[in-house]
Amino acid sequence: MLKTFFILTALMSLVAGTAQASNLPDGKALFSKNCAICHGIDGSVSDYGKTLEPFPARNLRAIAPYVGYDEIRRIVTHGTHKSKMKAMKYVLDPLEIEAIVDYIKTFSYKPNVANGKQRFKEVCASCHGNDGRAQTGVGAKNLVYSKLSLEEKVHTIRYGRSGTLMTAKRHQMSNADIADIANYVDSLKRGGNAKVGGKLYARNCKSCHATPSDIHIIGNVAVRHKKISDISDHMLDLRIRHGRHVDREGRKAIKKLSSDDVQDIISYLRKNSK
Ligand code: HEC
Ligand code: HEC
Ligand code: HEC
Repeated sequence: MLKTFFILTALMSLVAGTAQASNLPDGKALFSKNCAICHGIDGSVSDYGKTLEPFPARNLRAIAPYVGYDEIRRIVTHGTHKSKMKAMKYVLDPLEIEAIVDYIKTFSYKPNVANGKQRFKEVCASCHGNDGRAQTGVGAKNLVYSKLSLEEKVHTIRYGRSGTLMTAKRHQMSNADIADIANYVDSLKRGGNAKVGGKLYARNCKSCHATPSDIHIIGNVAVRHKKISDISDHMLDLRIRHGRHVDREGRKAIKKLSSDDVQDIISYLRKNSK
């Protein structure tokens, strides 16, 4: 009797054990069952997915390294507006969705920077300039000095900036193109060099501003922005090039500075002012 009891409990714990193991959803299997028909078994879109209207299914490999868990989870849970991407919360429970999101995040993507460069010329250069420095007069940002991370660049390209000329590109371009362009733009990044900036400062600025802390922001901006640390690189660049001091003898020296020179000086100012 006691023996059967032991065998029974042993059996029961075995059953409970296997039940528990199979309770952990298998993201890969769930993806194959629920998503692969449109997104392809490897996540790079099926032939059927490419034909969907009004928007084709999207390459999930090309967003996996750049788009965060929250955004992917939100799209999978709630779907997207007026598309064949339906809200999965009616089909899958939150644990299953989490397992699928985890699985998608394991996808890798090898960016094609040459394609990114080509597409940048076609789609972005009209505003940002061929070199990304945005001297085109439409208020586009200089991407060479952008402080955005690669992920934030992808986000900006996908969704744009509301109320500006920077419109969302998500339905205009494929995820692969967006990833390629973002990686190309990221490769243009140039941080300022504070050491070089220090030398330029000594030569061009020191005669009037003994140290960076002696620089006073003036005019309307000064009401809210009193210190150099309160002002963005973009604004500082404008102040250095076009601020009050260009009316003084400083003008000639300042006119000679290239964009990179000014960026180097800004780095120096940031390191050496309160
Ligand atoms: C019936 C086809 C179909 C199925 C099934 C489907 N999707 Fe989609 N999915 C789409 C389409 C179409 C889009 C593009 C929607 C848009 O552009 O607004 C999309 C977009 C997405 C996006 C956003 C991609 C981006 O770049 O913004 C994610 C993430 C996604 N799907 C994940 C999934 C997951 C995970 C599943 C399975 C649980 C799934 N999809 C099932 C058709 C499908
Ligand atoms: C019609 C003009 C226009 C086109 C075309 C355009 N942009 Fe922009 N872009 C802008 C403007 C204007 C801003 C500044 C938005 C703001 O004030 O926040 C901007 C901002 C950005 C930013 C944010 C930079 C930062 O540091 O905040 C990125 C990144 C960017 N664009 C990338 C691109 C890429 C990549 C393309 C091509 C796929 C592109 N843009 C096409 C006008 C454009
Ligand atoms: C010939 C003198 C002179 C030179 C050279 C000069 N500045 Fe100035 N700068 C001024 C004066 C005067 C002001 C007005 C504010 C004040 O009285 O401090 C000013 C203001 C500024 C401001 C604030 C601008 C504004 O509109 O709020 C910045 C930033 C600045 N200078 C940076 C620099 C940098 C960087 C250099 C070197 C590249 C430089 N200045 C060279 C005289 C000069």
